[in-house]
Amino acid sequence: MTDSEENPVAIRRATLADAAVLAGLGTATFVETFGRLYTPADLSAFLTRSRTIEAYREFLEDPRAAAWLALLDDGQAVGYVTAGPCKLPVPGLEADAGEVQQLYVLARHQQRRLGTRLFTTALDWLNERGHALLYVGVWSENHGAQRLYERFGFEKIGEYDFPVGEHLDREFILKRVAA
Ligand SMILES: CC(C)(COP(=O)(O)OP(=O)(O)OC[C@H]1O[C@@H](n2cnc3c(N)ncnc32)[C@H](O)[C@@H]1OP(=O)(O)O)[C@@H](O)C(=O)NCCC(=O)NCCS
Repeated sequence: MTDSEENPVAIRRATLADAAVLAGLGTATFVETFGRLYTPADLSAFLTRSRTIEAYREFLEDPRAAAWLALLDDGQAVGYVTAGPCKLPVPGLEADAGEVQQLYVLARHQQRRLGTRLFTTALDWLNERGHALLYVGVWSENHGAQRLYERFGFEKIGEYDFPVGEHLDREFILKRVAA
């Protein structure tokens, strides 16, 4: 799958061999997007729990989960998305609920439809896997991502506290109410 633009960007499913690429990209995108919001200790605690090679390896080893990379034609990864069974704290969560968990594009490659393409890829896969009900979690102040999710029929159905180290973020839970 490639863009028709001048600089084609391919989207491909990540394999176990991509765990280090995902850890590097997951760290870089989180730090450039949200790094300023946290103390160095909280940021470091979060990154060493969730954005390591081991964390992505464990994720990719789960047959119920998947990740995709957006790759420039020189092979550089500039965005990624992860998806799997829903792990958000939703009261009465349906057994077949799916979730798009991490959706990140490097700032200098945003606004080129990569986020939309990655998100569509993950949603299609979740649908094919029989996840009829879909969720995403998003920071309450992340209005750009919320606009993207709303375009796909997601609406806020709840919220929870998302821990980043000792810090708690107010996070919205969105559910796809219309395809
Ligand atoms: C959210 C995110 C993944 C979106 O990625 P993206 O590649 O910029 O997304 P798209 O290009 O598909 O869409 C973004 C915007 O560009 C617009 N756009 C896309 N292609 C365009 C084009 N060719 N011409 C004009 N506008 C365009 C879209 O309409 C959209 O508009 P909006 O900001 O008003 O909603 C990205 O901003 C990101 O990584 N943010 C930081 C991390 C983050 O917040 N992740 C979500 C965590 S829940």
